[in-house]
Amino acid sequence: MGEMSGKVALVTGAGSGIGRAMALIFAARGASVVVADINAEAGQATVNAVHAAGGEAILVRADVSLEVDAHRSVSATVERFGRLDYAANNAGLDGDVLPLTEQSAESFHRVIAVNLAGVFFGMKHQIPVMVRQGEGAIVNTSSIAGLRAHPGIGPYVAAKHGVNGLTKTAAIEYGSKGVRVNSLCPGGVRTPMLEEYLKSAPELRASIIDGNPMRRLGEAHEMAEAAVWLCSPAASYVNGHELVADGGKIVSDV
Ligand SMILES: NC(=O)c1ccc[n+]([C@@H]2O[C@H](COP(=O)([O-])OP(=O)(O)OC[C@H]3O[C@@H](n4cnc5c(N)ncnc54)[C@H](O)[C@@H]3O)[C@@H](O)[C@H]2O)c1
Repeated sequence: MGEMSGKVALVTGAGSGIGRAMALIFAARGASVVVADINAEAGQATVNAVHAAGGEAILVRADVSLEVDAHRSVSATVERFGRLDYAANNAGLDGDVLPLTEQSAESFHRVIAVNLAGVFFGMKHQIPVMVRQGEGAIVNTSSIAGLRAHPGIGPYVAAKHGVNGLTKTAAIEYGSKGVRVNSLCPGGVRTPMLEEYLKSAPELRASIIDGNPMRRLGEAHEMAEAAVWLCSPAASYVNGHELVADGGKIVSDV
């Protein structure tokens, strides 16, 4: 029996990388997990991995940029498990790596739709269930790009700053109803998204590693541990916080 036994966690973008690691750790702590991803095959692989580890999980194919899918993910959760205790709004993409004046409108809108509107739609439908229960915790995956500028990914930087703004707003609006809302701000983490990004700028790999005080990338499970802690009873007075997990990158001038 884990400390989250009897609890229910919904994780978006759980088909890969950080989201998959979150699903596995929530399940290892005893929570039943709803794996939501636009990629059903990837999501099913996560469900299978949770089952193989002895946990409980179901798949909901969902595009977080669509409000109807956010609503459906929450209803499917409540229908199957009767409650929703933790939500990780984690699905995201990086968009085109180009200077601002060369970014297309399409790429800008898609990054905002998935990375920012996706978090908004998620919280909009998750919070009412938690308020009815009188308790719940949400973690939104932002980035250190939600706290600092980063060249070449303007739409992503804008979306992640927005995620932190929405997180803090939700935290002050719903704290008195028993719902805590925090964001996780990872640095460079070794996932398919980062590998794809580095393909467009291979010279960055060495500089990301050399420029980090810990001289390495983060691992998905390290981000997931931080996210699950933010949702756990151990973080019961942590609300509206931007938890940076970046090996010390943003406090260094290495
Ligand atoms: N990897 C890093 O270095 C890093 C750093 C900072 C923040 N982040 C953030 O962490 C989160 C997870 O990133 P990751 O590195 O694990 O990426 P990833 O590409 O490995 O996984 C992202 C998952 O999200 C899913 N997804 C994409 N668009 C979706 C949509 N519209 N609806 C539902 N699911 C969708 C994908 O299918 C995939 O399974 C993202 O929000 C990302 O911005 C990552």
